Amino acid sequence: MNQYDISVIGGDGIGPEVTTEAMKVVDACADVFGFKLRKTEYPFGSEHFLATGEIFPDTAFEEVKQQRAVYLGAIGDPRLPVGKIEYGIIARMRFDLDLYINLRPIKLYDERLCPLKNKQPEDIDMVIIRENTEGAYAGMHGFCHKGQPLEVATQTMVYTREGVERAIRYAFELARERDKRKQVTLIDKANAVRAHDLWTRTFEEVSREYSDISTDHAYVDAACMWMVKNPEWFDVAVTTNLFGDIVTDLGAMLQGGMGIAASGNLHPGRVSLFEPIHGSAPKHAGKNVASPVAAIMASSMLLDYCDQKEAGAAIENTIAGLLREGKLRGVGTGDHPTDEVGDMVVNELRSTANV
Ligand code: IPM
Ligand code: MG
Repeated sequence: MNQYDISVIGGDGIGPEVTTEAMKVVDACADVFGFKLRKTEYPFGSEHFLATGEIFPDTAFEEVKQQRAVYLGAIGDPRLPVGKIEYGIIARMRFDLDLYINLRPIKLYDERLCPLKNKQPEDIDMVIIRENTEGAYAGMHGFCHKGQPLEVATQTMVYTREGVERAIRYAFELARERDKRKQVTLIDKANAVRAHDLWTRTFEEVSREYSDISTDHAYVDAACMWMVKNPEWFDVAVTTNLFGDIVTDLGAMLQGGMGIAASGNLHPGRVSLFEPIHGSAPKHAGKNVASPVAAIMASSMLLDYCDQKEAGAAIENTIAGLLREGKLRGVGTGDHPTDEVGDMVVNELRSTANV
C-alpha cells in the first residue's frame, strides 16, 4: 500500500478548524482509495510564537524537507508585527524549499457562487501560475533615513532567467496536460516595468517549443478587466509573484470567494505545500462558522500531488456535486457549521464508493 508522509500545520485563527475538516476528508480518502498517510502535526503559528518565541525551528524544517507534502491551514495574527509570521512560515517554505510554482486553479462549480451575471461553470475554468520565489517577494528591500522627512524606502523586483523560464515552462506543460483551450496567457506590465521584458522574451522563446499551444498576452491592469468581463478567455495564465498574488484574489471571487479557493506551492518532484488562499480570519476563529471548503479543496490538490489522482478528483467532484444539489448552501462564513461540511463530504465520499 502506498504511504505518504505529510506535515500538518493548522496555524492561526480559523486555520486549525478548517484543517481538522480537511484532514477528516483525506483520512476518508485513504480508507476509500487504499493508501496510508503518516501525518506529523506541528503547532507553529502566532500562538505558539507568543508562548515560546519559536517560529519554525530548524529541526522541524529538516523533518519537513523529508516529507512528501505539507498542509497549512492559515497564518497571520494582528498581535504580531506585520509580516513576521508570514515570513517565518509561508515565505520560509516557499524560498527555502524552492517552491517555485504557486498553482491557483479558478474554477466555478456552481453558477450561484459567481458574482458575475450570466456566467456558467464552463466560462470560468482557468489556472493561474504565479511565480513563487522571486519578483517583489525576493526580500531585497531597505530603508535609509528612517523616520526622517527624507526617508527612502526601496524594494527591488528580482527576476532571473531561470526563475522566469521554469514558471513559463510549467504553464505550457499544464496547458497541454489540461487539454482544454490549450492556451497560455502571459500577464505582465512590460510597458511600464521594463524588467518584464525578460518575461516577454522568455515567453516567446519557450512558446516556440509548444506549437500545439496558443499564446496570449495581457498587461496586468487589462488582465483584471478581462478576468471580470470575459473570464472564458483564460485557460492557463502565468505571471509574476506580486501580480499573481493580486489577480488570484480576484480570481477567487469569480469562483465563489475565499471560502472555496485553494492553492499549491510546488517544486515538482520535491516536498510541496498546499493551503487555502484565505487567511486566518481571527474574528471568525473558534466559532465553528468558517467555510472549510477551500481547505478541503487544498487537500484535494495535495492528494493529487501525492499521485492519488483519483482521490483528489473524488474530493473535487464531491464538493461540486454537493454545491449543485444545494446540499452545500454556500461557501461563505456561517453558511454551515464548519464541522458539518467535513462530515457531509466524508459521508458523500463513502456512500459514492460504498465504503
Ligand atoms: C497569499 C498570501 C501571502 C502572499 C501573504 C500571507 C504573505 O496573500 O498566499 O496569496 O502575499 O503571498
Ligand atoms: Mg494573497
